[in-house]
Amino acid sequence: MKKVLLVGDGARENALAEALGSSEEGYVVYSLSSYRNPGINEVVGKTGGRYFIGDINSVEEVRRVIKEVNPDFGVIGPEDPLFHGIADEFRKEGIPVVGPNSEGAMIEKSKVWMRELMWKYSIPGRLRFKYFNTIEEAAKFILEYGGSVAVKPAEQVGGKGVKVVADIQAYLSDEKRRAITTSVGSIANLVKGDVKILIEEKVDGPEYTLHVLTDGKSYLPLPLAQDNKNAYEDGIGPETGGMGAISGPGYLLPFIDQEEFTRSYEIVKITAEAIEREVKQSYIGILSGQMMLTSIWGPTIIEYYARFGDPEASAIIPRIKSDFGKILELLATGHLSRAKVEVDERPSVVKAIAPLGYPLDKNKASNHRIWLDLPKIREMGCKVYFGSVALEGNSLLTKGSRAVEIVAIEDDYGRAVEKVDKCFSLISSDTKLLFRHDIGRTIDQQIEKAQIVRYSYKRREARGILGISADWSPNGGLW
Ligand code: GLY
Repeated sequence: MKKVLLVGDGARENALAEALGSSEEGYVVYSLSSYRNPGINEVVGKTGGRYFIGDINSVEEVRRVIKEVNPDFGVIGPEDPLFHGIADEFRKEGIPVVGPNSEGAMIEKSKVWMRELMWKYSIPGRLRFKYFNTIEEAAKFILEYGGSVAVKPAEQVGGKGVKVVADIQAYLSDEKRRAITTSVGSIANLVKGDVKILIEEKVDGPEYTLHVLTDGKSYLPLPLAQDNKNAYEDGIGPETGGMGAISGPGYLLPFIDQEEFTRSYEIVKITAEAIEREVKQSYIGILSGQMMLTSIWGPTIIEYYARFGDPEASAIIPRIKSDFGKILELLATGHLSRAKVEVDERPSVVKAIAPLGYPLDKNKASNHRIWLDLPKIREMGCKVYFGSVALEGNSLLTKGSRAVEIVAIEDDYGRAVEKVDKCFSLISSDTKLLFRHDIGRTIDQQIEKAQIVRYSYKRREARGILGISADWSPNGGLW
Protein backbone atom coordinates (compact mmCIF):
# COMPACT_ATOMS: atom_id res chain seq x y z
CA MET A 1 0.00 0.00 0.00
CA LYS A 2 1.20 3.50 -0.83
CA LYS A 3 2.26 5.88 1.92
CA VAL A 4 1.55 9.61 1.95
CA LEU A 5 3.14 12.14 4.29
CA LEU A 6 0.92 15.14 5.06
CA VAL A 7 2.59 18.26 6.48
CA GLY A 8 0.49 20.73 8.47
CA ASP A 9 -1.92 20.80 11.36
CA GLY A 10 -5.06 22.86 10.72
CA ALA A 11 -8.60 22.31 9.45
CA ARG A 12 -7.42 22.47 5.83
CA GLU A 13 -5.00 19.61 6.56
CA ASN A 14 -7.83 17.72 8.32
CA ALA A 15 -9.89 18.03 5.09
CA LEU A 16 -6.89 16.88 3.02
CA ALA A 17 -6.25 13.99 5.43
CA GLU A 18 -9.87 12.88 5.13
CA ALA A 19 -9.65 12.91 1.31
CA LEU A 20 -6.40 10.91 1.40
CA GLY A 21 -7.68 8.51 4.05
CA SER A 22 -10.92 7.75 2.19
CA SER A 23 -9.27 7.23 -1.21
CA GLU A 24 -9.90 3.95 -3.01
CA GLU A 25 -6.12 3.71 -3.32
CA GLY A 26 -6.03 2.76 0.39
CA TYR A 27 -3.23 5.21 1.26
CA VAL A 28 -1.56 4.90 4.64
CA VAL A 29 -1.58 8.48 5.97
CA TYR A 30 1.40 9.81 7.96
CA SER A 31 1.30 13.24 9.48
CA LEU A 32 3.93 15.78 10.50
CA SER A 33 2.22 18.46 12.59
CA SER A 34 3.21 20.84 15.34
CA TYR A 35 0.53 19.40 17.65
CA ARG A 36 -1.88 16.45 17.67
CA ASN A 37 -4.86 17.53 15.57
CA PRO A 38 -7.73 15.20 16.60
CA GLY A 39 -9.16 14.95 13.06
CA ILE A 40 -5.85 14.16 11.37
CA ASN A 41 -5.03 11.80 14.24
CA GLU A 42 -8.24 9.87 13.55
CA VAL A 43 -7.33 9.40 9.86
CA VAL A 44 -3.74 8.43 10.69
CA GLY A 45 -5.04 5.86 13.20
CA LYS A 46 -7.62 4.39 10.82
CA THR A 47 -5.18 3.98 7.94
CA GLY A 48 -2.40 2.53 10.09
CA GLY A 49 0.02 5.46 9.67
CA ARG A 50 1.99 7.37 12.27
CA TYR A 51 1.71 10.82 13.76
CA PHE A 52 4.93 12.83 14.08
CA ILE A 53 4.91 15.98 16.17
CA GLY A 54 7.63 18.47 15.29
CA ASP A 55 8.61 21.68 13.55
CA ILE A 56 6.88 21.65 10.16
CA ASN A 57 9.15 24.46 8.92
CA SER A 58 12.41 22.69 9.71
CA VAL A 59 14.16 21.13 6.72
CA GLU A 60 16.16 18.81 9.04
CA GLU A 61 13.03 17.61 10.82
CA VAL A 62 11.20 16.93 7.56
CA ARG A 63 14.23 15.12 6.14
CA ARG A 64 14.33 12.91 9.24
CA VAL A 65 10.63 12.03 8.95
CA ILE A 66 10.91 11.41 5.19
CA LYS A 67 13.79 9.00 5.82
CA GLU A 68 11.81 7.19 8.50
CA VAL A 69 8.53 6.93 6.54
CA ASN A 70 9.86 6.73 2.97
CA PRO A 71 6.53 8.01 1.59
CA ASP A 72 5.40 7.51 -2.01
CA PHE A 73 4.33 11.15 -2.11
CA GLY A 74 3.77 14.15 0.12
CA VAL A 75 1.17 16.87 0.53
CA ILE A 76 2.03 20.23 2.12
CA GLY A 77 -0.92 22.22 3.47
CA PRO A 78 0.23 25.61 4.84
CA GLU A 79 2.35 28.37 3.29
CA ASP A 80 5.14 28.62 5.88
CA PRO A 81 6.70 25.20 5.11
CA LEU A 82 6.63 26.15 1.40
CA PHE A 83 8.47 29.41 2.17
CA HIS A 84 11.00 27.40 4.22
CA GLY A 85 11.82 25.06 1.32
CA ILE A 86 10.03 21.94 2.60
CA ALA A 87 8.73 21.05 -0.90
CA ASP A 88 12.29 21.46 -2.21
CA GLU A 89 13.44 18.99 0.44
CA PHE A 90 10.87 16.35 -0.55
CA ARG A 91 12.03 16.65 -4.17
CA LYS A 92 15.71 16.49 -3.18
CA GLU A 93 14.90 13.21 -1.44
CA GLY A 94 13.17 12.02 -4.65
CA ILE A 95 9.63 12.17 -3.21
CA PRO A 96 6.93 13.78 -5.40
CA VAL A 97 4.96 16.35 -3.46
CA VAL A 98 1.96 18.67 -3.74
CA GLY A 99 3.38 22.15 -3.17
CA PRO A 100 5.70 24.42 -5.14
CA ASN A 101 9.40 24.88 -4.39
CA SER A 102 10.35 27.97 -2.37
CA GLU A 103 11.04 30.01 -5.54
CA GLY A 104 7.51 29.33 -6.85
CA ALA A 105 6.03 30.08 -3.43
CA MET A 106 7.33 33.67 -3.83
CA ILE A 107 4.01 34.33 -5.55
CA GLU A 108 2.48 34.25 -2.07
CA LYS A 109 5.44 35.23 0.10
CA SER A 110 6.16 38.55 -1.55
CA LYS A 111 3.30 40.71 -2.72
CA VAL A 112 5.82 42.92 -4.51
CA TRP A 113 7.22 39.93 -6.44
CA MET A 114 3.65 38.97 -7.33
CA ARG A 115 2.69 42.46 -8.56
CA GLU A 116 5.92 42.84 -10.55
CA LEU A 117 5.32 39.48 -12.21
CA MET A 118 1.78 40.48 -13.17
CA TRP A 119 2.99 43.73 -14.77
CA LYS A 120 6.00 42.11 -16.46
CA TYR A 121 3.76 39.55 -18.17
CA SER A 122 0.83 41.99 -18.69
CA ILE A 123 -1.53 39.67 -16.85
CA PRO A 124 -5.11 40.99 -16.76
CA GLY A 125 -6.54 41.79 -13.35
CA ARG A 126 -3.37 43.57 -12.14
CA LEU A 127 -3.53 46.60 -9.86
CA ARG A 128 -1.21 49.59 -9.77
CA PHE A 129 1.17 49.45 -6.83
CA LYS A 130 4.13 51.07 -5.11
CA TYR A 131 6.39 49.69 -2.43
CA PHE A 132 8.41 51.39 0.28
CA ASN A 133 11.18 50.51 2.73
CA THR A 134 10.28 53.14 5.28
CA ILE A 135 7.14 54.30 6.99
CA GLU A 136 7.95 57.93 6.20
CA GLU A 137 8.20 57.38 2.45
CA ALA A 138 4.95 55.39 2.43
CA ALA A 139 3.09 57.99 4.48
CA LYS A 140 4.41 60.78 2.20
CA PHE A 141 3.15 58.95 -0.87
CA ILE A 142 -0.29 58.41 0.65
CA LEU A 143 -0.56 62.06 1.57
CA GLU A 144 0.53 63.28 -1.87
CA TYR A 145 -1.55 60.87 -3.92
CA GLY A 146 -5.05 62.10 -4.67
CA GLY A 147 -6.95 58.82 -4.44
CA SER A 148 -7.84 55.91 -2.17
CA VAL A 149 -5.31 53.19 -1.51
CA ALA A 150 -4.95 49.84 0.25
CA VAL A 151 -1.88 49.62 2.49
CA LYS A 152 -0.49 46.12 3.02
CA PRO A 153 2.54 44.41 4.49
CA ALA A 154 4.87 43.61 1.56
CA GLU A 155 5.18 39.99 2.76
CA GLN A 156 2.59 37.36 3.67
CA VAL A 157 1.89 37.68 7.38
CA GLY A 158 -0.98 35.24 7.84
CA GLY A 159 -3.62 37.39 6.12
CA LYS A 160 -3.18 40.19 8.64
CA GLY A 161 -2.56 43.85 8.16
CA VAL A 162 -4.58 45.23 5.24
CA LYS A 163 -5.68 48.80 5.86
CA VAL A 164 -7.61 51.03 3.51
CA VAL A 165 -6.93 54.72 3.39
CA ALA A 166 -9.85 56.42 1.66
CA ASP A 167 -10.81 60.08 1.35
CA ILE A 168 -7.28 61.42 1.28
CA GLN A 169 -8.37 65.04 1.71
CA ALA A 170 -9.57 64.23 5.20
CA TYR A 171 -6.06 63.18 6.20
CA LEU A 172 -4.32 66.44 5.57
CA SER A 173 -4.25 67.91 9.06
CA ASP A 174 -1.16 67.27 11.21
CA GLU A 175 -3.15 65.02 13.45
CA LYS A 176 -4.29 62.94 10.53
CA ARG A 177 -0.75 62.80 9.18
CA ARG A 178 0.26 61.25 12.48
CA ALA A 179 -2.62 58.79 12.18
CA ILE A 180 -1.43 57.66 8.75
CA THR A 181 2.15 57.26 9.93
CA THR A 182 1.03 55.19 12.92
CA SER A 183 -1.27 53.08 10.81
CA VAL A 184 1.41 52.41 8.17
CA GLY A 185 3.93 51.79 10.97
CA SER A 186 1.75 49.09 12.51
CA ILE A 187 1.86 47.27 9.16
CA ALA A 188 5.61 47.77 8.68
CA ASN A 189 6.22 46.19 12.09
CA LEU A 190 4.74 42.91 10.84
CA VAL A 191 7.34 42.53 8.09
CA LYS A 192 10.83 41.05 8.54
CA GLY A 193 12.31 41.85 5.08
CA ASP A 194 13.64 45.18 3.78
CA VAL A 195 10.67 46.08 1.66
CA LYS A 196 8.02 46.78 4.26
CA ILE A 197 4.95 48.33 2.77
CA LEU A 198 2.95 47.76 -0.36
CA ILE A 199 0.45 50.36 -1.48
CA GLU A 200 -2.11 49.42 -4.08
CA GLU A 201 -4.93 51.28 -5.70
CA LYS A 202 -8.06 50.56 -3.74
CA VAL A 203 -10.77 48.50 -5.39
CA ASP A 204 -14.15 47.34 -4.24
CA GLY A 205 -16.50 44.50 -5.16
CA PRO A 206 -17.42 40.95 -4.17
CA GLU A 207 -14.43 38.75 -3.34
CA TYR A 208 -13.95 35.13 -4.30
CA THR A 209 -11.24 32.47 -4.52
CA LEU A 210 -10.29 30.27 -7.45
CA HIS A 211 -7.99 27.32 -6.78
CA VAL A 212 -6.20 25.80 -9.76
CA LEU A 213 -4.28 22.52 -9.48
CA THR A 214 -1.26 22.28 -11.76
CA ASP A 215 1.64 19.91 -12.32
CA GLY A 216 3.25 22.36 -14.71
CA LYS A 217 1.68 20.67 -17.75
CA SER A 218 -2.05 20.44 -17.00
CA TYR A 219 -4.37 22.78 -15.18
CA LEU A 220 -7.49 21.85 -13.27
CA PRO A 221 -9.73 24.55 -11.77
CA LEU A 222 -11.82 23.71 -8.72
CA PRO A 223 -15.20 25.23 -7.81
CA LEU A 224 -15.10 28.83 -6.60
CA ALA A 225 -15.35 29.67 -2.91
CA GLN A 226 -15.71 32.86 -0.93
CA ASP A 227 -13.82 33.40 2.31
CA ASN A 228 -15.03 35.75 5.07
CA LYS A 229 -11.91 37.23 6.62
CA ASN A 230 -13.18 39.69 9.19
CA ALA A 231 -13.76 38.63 12.75
CA TYR A 232 -17.22 40.12 13.17
CA GLU A 233 -20.60 40.17 11.42
CA ASP A 234 -21.02 42.23 8.25
CA GLY A 235 -17.32 42.05 7.44
CA ILE A 236 -16.07 44.35 10.18
CA GLY A 237 -13.40 43.93 12.83
CA PRO A 238 -9.83 42.69 12.58
CA GLU A 239 -8.75 40.38 9.79
CA THR A 240 -8.55 36.70 10.65
CA GLY A 241 -7.38 33.67 8.68
CA GLY A 242 -11.06 33.33 7.66
CA MET A 243 -14.19 32.87 9.77
CA GLY A 244 -16.06 30.85 7.18
CA ALA A 245 -16.57 30.23 3.48
CA ILE A 246 -19.24 29.38 0.95
CA SER A 247 -18.98 27.43 -2.29
CA GLY A 248 -21.33 26.56 -5.17
CA PRO A 249 -23.72 25.81 -6.66
CA GLY A 250 -21.67 23.94 -9.25
CA TYR A 251 -18.39 25.67 -10.08
CA LEU A 252 -19.78 29.16 -9.68
CA LEU A 253 -21.02 31.40 -6.90
CA PRO A 254 -24.44 33.07 -7.14
CA PHE A 255 -22.71 36.40 -7.86
CA ILE A 256 -19.99 35.23 -10.29
CA ASP A 257 -21.11 34.08 -13.76
CA GLN A 258 -19.60 31.53 -16.14
CA GLU A 259 -17.76 34.11 -18.24
CA GLU A 260 -16.19 35.61 -15.11
CA PHE A 261 -15.18 32.14 -13.95
CA THR A 262 -13.51 31.48 -17.33
CA ARG A 263 -11.65 34.80 -17.24
CA SER A 264 -10.53 34.17 -13.65
CA TYR A 265 -9.24 30.74 -14.65
CA GLU A 266 -7.29 32.24 -17.57
CA ILE A 267 -5.69 34.79 -15.21
CA VAL A 268 -4.59 32.15 -12.69
CA LYS A 269 -3.38 29.79 -15.43
CA ILE A 270 -1.23 32.40 -17.20
CA THR A 271 0.15 33.46 -13.82
CA ALA A 272 1.22 29.85 -13.15
CA GLU A 273 2.91 29.79 -16.58
CA ALA A 274 4.60 33.14 -15.86
CA ILE A 275 5.94 31.85 -12.50
CA GLU A 276 7.44 28.85 -14.28
CA ARG A 277 9.14 31.05 -16.88
CA GLU A 278 10.42 33.34 -14.14
CA VAL A 279 11.81 30.69 -11.76
CA LYS A 280 12.68 28.18 -14.53
CA GLN A 281 11.04 25.32 -12.61
CA SER A 282 7.71 23.52 -12.77
CA TYR A 283 5.09 24.82 -10.38
CA ILE A 284 3.54 21.68 -8.91
CA GLY A 285 0.73 22.29 -6.47
CA ILE A 286 -2.14 24.66 -5.97
CA LEU A 287 -2.24 28.25 -7.16
CA SER A 288 -5.09 30.05 -5.56
CA GLY A 289 -6.27 33.42 -6.88
CA GLN A 290 -7.76 35.63 -4.16
CA MET A 291 -9.95 37.65 -6.48
CA MET A 292 -12.41 40.49 -6.56
CA LEU A 293 -14.91 41.50 -9.21
CA THR A 294 -14.01 45.17 -9.76
CA SER A 295 -15.19 47.99 -12.00
CA ILE A 296 -11.63 48.39 -13.31
CA TRP A 297 -11.01 44.89 -14.63
CA GLY A 298 -13.92 42.62 -13.81
CA PRO A 299 -11.95 39.66 -12.36
CA THR A 300 -9.00 41.19 -10.47
CA ILE A 301 -6.19 39.67 -8.38
CA ILE A 302 -5.98 40.87 -4.78
CA GLU A 303 -3.34 38.31 -3.85
CA TYR A 304 -2.20 34.78 -4.57
CA TYR A 305 -1.78 31.75 -2.31
CA ALA A 306 0.61 28.94 -3.19
CA ARG A 307 -1.71 26.44 -1.43
CA PHE A 308 -5.32 25.86 -0.49
CA GLY A 309 -7.06 28.63 1.45
CA ASP A 310 -8.39 27.74 4.86
CA PRO A 311 -11.43 27.64 5.35
CA GLU A 312 -11.98 27.61 1.55
CA ALA A 313 -10.55 24.05 1.42
CA SER A 314 -13.20 22.89 3.88
CA ALA A 315 -15.94 24.35 1.65
CA ILE A 316 -14.61 22.79 -1.56
CA ILE A 317 -12.97 19.42 -0.78
CA PRO A 318 -16.10 17.74 0.67
CA ARG A 319 -17.99 18.72 -2.52
CA ILE A 320 -15.57 16.75 -4.71
CA LYS A 321 -17.21 13.42 -5.51
CA SER A 322 -14.25 11.96 -7.40
CA ASP A 323 -11.34 10.40 -5.53
CA PHE A 324 -9.57 13.59 -4.42
CA GLY A 325 -6.82 11.68 -2.61
CA LYS A 326 -5.93 10.02 -5.92
CA ILE A 327 -6.07 13.42 -7.68
CA LEU A 328 -3.49 14.72 -5.17
CA GLU A 329 -1.20 11.81 -6.03
CA LEU A 330 -1.64 12.43 -9.78
CA LEU A 331 -0.82 16.10 -9.16
CA ALA A 332 2.32 15.34 -7.15
CA THR A 333 3.60 12.81 -9.68
CA GLY A 334 2.99 14.92 -12.79
CA HIS A 335 0.01 12.97 -14.14
CA LEU A 336 -2.70 15.54 -13.53
CA SER A 337 -3.95 15.19 -17.13
CA ARG A 338 -5.45 11.83 -16.04
CA ALA A 339 -7.52 13.43 -13.26
CA LYS A 340 -11.24 14.04 -13.61
CA VAL A 341 -13.10 16.13 -11.08
CA GLU A 342 -16.78 15.52 -10.47
CA VAL A 343 -18.43 17.81 -7.95
CA ASP A 344 -21.58 17.79 -5.87
CA GLU A 345 -23.65 20.55 -7.51
CA ARG A 346 -25.13 21.64 -4.18
CA PRO A 347 -23.68 24.62 -2.29
CA SER A 348 -21.71 24.31 0.92
CA VAL A 349 -21.26 26.54 3.94
CA VAL A 350 -18.37 26.26 6.38
CA LYS A 351 -18.06 28.28 9.54
CA ALA A 352 -15.22 28.44 12.01
CA ILE A 353 -15.68 28.63 15.75
CA ALA A 354 -12.96 30.41 17.75
CA PRO A 355 -12.30 30.98 21.44
CA LEU A 356 -12.81 34.46 22.89
CA GLY A 357 -9.62 36.47 22.36
CA TYR A 358 -9.08 35.38 18.75
CA PRO A 359 -7.61 37.00 16.65
CA LEU A 360 -6.06 39.74 18.79
CA ASP A 361 -5.09 37.94 22.00
CA LYS A 362 -3.65 34.49 21.36
CA ASN A 363 -2.94 33.82 25.06
CA LYS A 364 -6.51 34.55 26.02
CA ALA A 365 -7.75 32.20 23.28
CA SER A 366 -5.37 29.36 24.29
CA ASN A 367 -5.63 26.39 26.66
CA HIS A 368 -9.39 26.21 26.93
CA ARG A 369 -11.21 22.93 26.89
CA ILE A 370 -13.68 22.22 24.08
CA TRP A 371 -16.34 19.50 24.04
CA LEU A 372 -18.14 18.22 20.94
CA ASP A 373 -20.83 15.63 20.46
CA LEU A 374 -19.00 14.29 17.42
CA PRO A 375 -21.25 11.27 16.68
CA LYS A 376 -24.38 13.45 16.86
CA ILE A 377 -22.85 16.21 14.70
CA ARG A 378 -21.91 13.63 12.08
CA GLU A 379 -25.32 11.96 12.32
CA MET A 380 -26.88 15.36 11.58
CA GLY A 381 -24.91 15.41 8.32
CA CYS A 382 -22.26 18.01 9.17
CA LYS A 383 -18.57 17.55 8.51
CA VAL A 384 -16.18 18.46 11.31
CA TYR A 385 -12.64 19.63 10.62
CA PHE A 386 -10.42 20.38 13.59
CA GLY A 387 -8.20 23.44 13.40
CA SER A 388 -6.24 25.03 16.19
CA VAL A 389 -7.10 22.47 18.85
CA ALA A 390 -4.87 19.76 20.28
CA LEU A 391 -5.76 16.33 21.55
CA GLU A 392 -4.03 16.07 24.92
CA GLY A 393 -4.91 12.88 26.77
CA ASN A 394 -8.66 12.70 26.32
CA SER A 395 -9.13 16.48 26.26
CA LEU A 396 -9.32 18.94 23.41
CA LEU A 397 -7.39 22.12 24.18
CA THR A 398 -7.53 25.32 22.16
CA LYS A 399 -4.26 26.62 20.69
CA GLY A 400 -5.30 30.24 20.22
CA SER A 401 -6.81 30.32 16.74
CA ARG A 402 -9.90 29.00 14.91
CA ALA A 403 -10.61 25.74 16.73
CA VAL A 404 -13.20 23.84 14.70
CA GLU A 405 -14.79 24.22 11.26
CA ILE A 406 -18.23 22.81 10.58
CA VAL A 407 -19.41 22.19 7.02
CA ALA A 408 -22.85 21.48 5.59
CA ILE A 409 -23.76 20.75 1.97
CA GLU A 410 -27.44 21.30 1.20
CA ASP A 411 -29.83 22.13 -1.66
CA ASP A 412 -29.59 25.84 -0.89
CA TYR A 413 -27.55 28.22 1.24
CA GLY A 414 -30.39 28.82 3.72
CA ARG A 415 -30.57 25.15 4.65
CA ALA A 416 -26.80 24.76 4.79
CA VAL A 417 -26.44 27.70 7.20
CA GLU A 418 -29.24 26.40 9.39
CA LYS A 419 -27.59 23.01 9.59
CA VAL A 420 -24.17 24.44 10.48
CA ASP A 421 -25.74 26.52 13.26
CA LYS A 422 -27.54 23.44 14.66
CA CYS A 423 -24.28 21.51 14.66
CA PHE A 424 -22.52 24.41 16.41
CA SER A 425 -25.00 24.09 19.25
CA LEU A 426 -23.35 20.72 20.02
CA ILE A 427 -19.98 22.36 20.71
CA SER A 428 -19.19 23.89 24.09
CA SER A 429 -16.18 25.23 25.94
CA ASP A 430 -15.02 26.66 29.28
CA THR A 431 -14.66 29.99 27.43
CA LYS A 432 -16.98 31.92 25.17
CA LEU A 433 -16.96 30.65 21.58
CA LEU A 434 -17.27 33.09 18.70
CA PHE A 435 -18.64 32.52 15.23
CA ARG A 436 -20.28 34.65 12.58
CA HIS A 437 -24.01 34.35 12.00
CA ASP A 438 -24.06 36.20 8.67
CA ILE A 439 -21.90 33.85 6.57
CA GLY A 440 -24.11 32.32 3.85
CA ARG A 441 -26.91 34.76 4.63
CA THR A 442 -25.80 37.72 2.50
CA ILE A 443 -26.11 36.19 -0.95
CA ASP A 444 -28.72 38.72 -2.20
CA GLN A 445 -26.60 41.72 -1.17
CA GLN A 446 -23.58 40.23 -2.93
CA ILE A 447 -25.59 39.61 -6.10
CA GLU A 448 -26.61 43.29 -6.04
CA LYS A 449 -23.04 44.44 -5.45
CA ALA A 450 -21.80 42.26 -8.34
CA GLN A 451 -24.48 43.64 -10.67
CA ILE A 452 -23.29 47.22 -10.07
CA VAL A 453 -19.65 46.32 -10.64
CA ARG A 454 -20.50 44.17 -13.68
CA TYR A 455 -22.42 47.01 -15.35
CA SER A 456 -19.43 49.26 -14.82
CA TYR A 457 -16.64 46.94 -16.05
CA LYS A 458 -18.66 45.84 -19.08
CA ARG A 459 -19.14 49.48 -20.08
CA ARG A 460 -15.40 50.09 -19.67
CA GLU A 461 -14.69 47.03 -21.77
CA ALA A 462 -17.05 48.28 -24.52
CA ARG A 463 -15.18 51.63 -24.46
CA GLY A 464 -11.80 49.88 -24.66
CA ILE A 465 -10.60 51.12 -21.24
CA LEU A 466 -10.65 47.89 -19.23
CA GLY A 467 -7.78 47.95 -16.73
CA ILE A 468 -7.36 51.72 -16.87
CA SER A 469 -7.79 52.93 -13.31
CA ALA A 470 -11.04 54.65 -12.41
CA ASP A 471 -9.34 56.21 -9.42
CA TRP A 472 -7.11 58.73 -11.13
CA SER A 473 -6.33 62.16 -9.76
CA PRO A 474 -6.66 65.20 -12.07
CA ASN A 475 -2.88 65.71 -12.36
CA GLY A 476 -2.33 62.08 -13.34
CA GLY A 477 -1.47 60.79 -9.89
CA LEU A 478 1.93 59.69 -8.67
CA TRP A 479 1.92 56.03 -9.69
N1 GLY B 1 -8.49 32.03 4.02
C1 GLY B 1 -7.30 32.76 4.16
C2 GLY B 1 -6.07 31.96 4.13
O1 GLY B 1 -6.10 30.79 3.84
O2 GLY B 1 -5.00 32.49 4.38
